[in-house]
Amino acid sequence: MSEPAPVRVGGGHAEPVISPLIELRQVGFAVTAPVPTRILHPLDLDIAAGSSVAIVGPSGAGKSTLASLIGALQQPSEGTYRYAGQPVTGRSLGQLARFRSERLGFVFQNSHLIDERTASANVDLGITDPRMPSAVRVQRCIDALDVVGLAPLAGRKAAHLSGGERHRVAVARALVKRPEVVIADEPTAALDQTTGQAILDLLSSLTDDGTTLIVVTHDSRAAAMADQVVSIVDGRLR
Ligand SMILES: Nc1ncnc2c1ncn2[C@@H]1O[C@H](COP(=O)(O)OP(=O)(O)O)[C@@H](O)[C@H]1O
Ligand SMILES: [Mg+2]
Repeated sequence: MSEPAPVRVGGGHAEPVISPLIELRQVGFAVTAPVPTRILHPLDLDIAAGSSVAIVGPSGAGKSTLASLIGALQQPSEGTYRYAGQPVTGRSLGQLARFRSERLGFVFQNSHLIDERTASANVDLGITDPRMPSAVRVQRCIDALDVVGLAPLAGRKAAHLSGGERHRVAVARALVKRPEVVIADEPTAALDQTTGQAILDLLSSLTDDGTTLIVVTHDSRAAAMADQVVSIVDGRLR
């Protein structure tokens, strides 16, 4: 997996300043319907390329909302979001979709696999480049399943996989396009202790080759493994 290029700003003879991959400035989120509700108060957040971040806090605090803003699944109500030095706020829905598909991989609480498809065919759904030759696609899927330790089960239908295996397939599906950032929202919530730990170990190993990892979690083990812990309480950074 190639390391995302750090963004260098400034010039002259001074040491270059490496700006963060993800920069939120006074980013907040509020809804007007059904009743006006402030969900996330304006906050600043910097995430360095290749680092791991745990977003923690009680249920309903605004963790998923923050993750969805970073993942450009929702637009903030205020503030600016810069990614690799470029503004994300202000882009069209099409540009945001392309941004997500080119750069980000998502893992959710549930694996959302298609039962009738094989593990490999589910992973293939994560490939977003329509020009990728099919032989490369097949190899990419096997490689991604290998990362999660499931290459031997590539041909098995998702319906016949265990809960933990399904989750590992979902992780492989997020990794297959080799995203710069993986965003995982409570990836261990539906798993037993041992399986959850295996998923956390797997996710945290991604930073070894430069992938940036953002994990929303209730799990203190995940927080302990992160480079940066972002604590949200009642929609505010703590
Ligand atoms: N689009 C929305 N409209 C109304 N309320 C929302 C919306 N999105 C989230 N909320 C509310 O905002 C709060 C924070 O949600 P969420 O970010 O999902 O919290 P967490 O992931 O920390 O449990 C919750 O009370 C939730 O019901
Ligand atoms: Mg949530």
